[in-house]
Amino acid sequence: MKVCRRAHFNSAHRLYRPDWSDDKNNEVFGKCNNPNFHGHNYQLEVWVEGEIDPETGFVIDLKILKDIIKNEILERFDHRNLNVDCLEFKNLNPTAENIAVVCYDLLRAKLDEKYDISLKLWETENNIVEYAGR
Ligand code: NI
Repeated sequence: MKVCRRAHFNSAHRLYRPDWSDDKNNEVFGKCNNPNFHGHNYQLEVWVEGEIDPETGFVIDLKILKDIIKNEILERFDHRNLNVDCLEFKNLNPTAENIAVVCYDLLRAKLDEKYDISLKLWETENNIVEYAGR
């Protein structure tokens, strides 16, 4: 059984590698390399898979999952500049892929290992990544 909690956060970022030339950054990252940053309304889905607890009838109490997402993700990244404000991206390009990996690792550390977790992250309406530890 899989259950899901959705959340969203607004963050600014810039896709950029300091070890590349400006030309190469522009060629690979295009407008996302704007030096003055740009923002996204990120939509996150966190899926938790496990057995239904016969006592509660829940796979996981979604209120508990909501609080973990709030504490681990939203309080870190909502209304932040990922490149400038967030240590997680000090040396990591904040692509949707890398944001998903960081979010996964933060949540994985707080959830019982009896659960399999995966997440989907919408950077835009049409650009979506999914990560489940690989
Ligand atoms: Ni972007």
